[in-house]
Amino acid sequence: MHPVILAIESSCDETSASIIQHGKVLNNVIASQSIHQKYGGVVPELASRAHQQNILMVVNEAMTTSGIPFNELNAIAFTRGPGLMGSLLVGVSFAKGMALALNLPLIEVNHMEAHVLAHFIQKPVPAFPFLCLTVSGGHTQIVLVEDYLKMKVIGETQDDAVGEAFDKAAKMLGLPYPGGPLIDQYAKQGNPKAFKFSDTSMSGFDFSFSGIKTSFLYFLRDQKKIDPYFVEKNMADICASLQANLVKMLLKKLKLAAVELGVKEIAIAGGVAANSGLRTELKNEAEKLGWRIYIPEFQYCTDNAAMIAIAAHYKFLKNDFCRLDIAPLANLSI
Ligand code: KG4
Ligand code: ZN
Repeated sequence: MHPVILAIESSCDETSASIIQHGKVLNNVIASQSIHQKYGGVVPELASRAHQQNILMVVNEAMTTSGIPFNELNAIAFTRGPGLMGSLLVGVSFAKGMALALNLPLIEVNHMEAHVLAHFIQKPVPAFPFLCLTVSGGHTQIVLVEDYLKMKVIGETQDDAVGEAFDKAAKMLGLPYPGGPLIDQYAKQGNPKAFKFSDTSMSGFDFSFSGIKTSFLYFLRDQKKIDPYFVEKNMADICASLQANLVKMLLKKLKLAAVELGVKEIAIAGGVAANSGLRTELKNEAEKLGWRIYIPEFQYCTDNAAMIAIAAHYKFLKNDFCRLDIAPLANLSI
């Protein structure tokens, strides 16, 4: 059977709904929450309130624009976690309510697996086995993907996520949240070799970003003692140097994993996959090492329900449904 599924994502600060029909994503409606900007980061209580306000509108729009009537749906899918508890609860409860009302099976989706499966929304798709570097505001992982629903995290951050490192560094520079894209913009005009920051290296395929964050903080403090306008005068060079360092740390572990496991199919996913420095360096490495690389369209890199829909499609084909009394799987940070 080729199912029609409504999928809902609400793990952090994006409320999203998507319809997938016969494995083809029909739409990807996303309501982003700008309210967090003035607080310099996601405020969990405000996020869950905004999900509550947006979810009905987002689901209605996905249903209407797909042209599919409710009675043609075969399942309801939702993000179970990881994520913020209050945010997840909105999507989980909404999905359960719809499944009960329409008498449909429920499919729970792991948010991180969905980021990886976003590569199957559009062609070209990676061949198994492939490595996926999932880099977002909450996660930094290297995943070995053996099949649609068979994947293993082989390396991950032991502290901050790389997106968090971008955002916190941006905050130190006085830039608004989320600062990652702004650092990327400034970096385009700067010299990546202008400044050096020390980082703590982890063993194996794991990452750590707390060392470089501290080094950056002290660097700015010391430079500002000498010249109070140091940041304003050197913004582009600071951003370019920081970005080059972070990208180098990511690629070092990705290369190590690719060489040790003998994998040449390499994918990146998550919000930081939009970073132009990362994309350029990845292409350079691909040329040198003979990798085939895969980067999803931007709307499928950041949090979205289309990735939940494609994951749910493969779970449906395996009859992998869940019970109505299932609870969200939250974590402390995302
Ligand atoms: O996947 P995502 O939308 O949400 C999470 O699950 O976290 O990722 C958001 C993260 C933020 O930290 C944001 O600063 C970062 O992705 N980001 C970028 C860029 N675009 C988004 N970081 C660096 N360069 C970019 N161009
Ligand atoms: Zn995410």
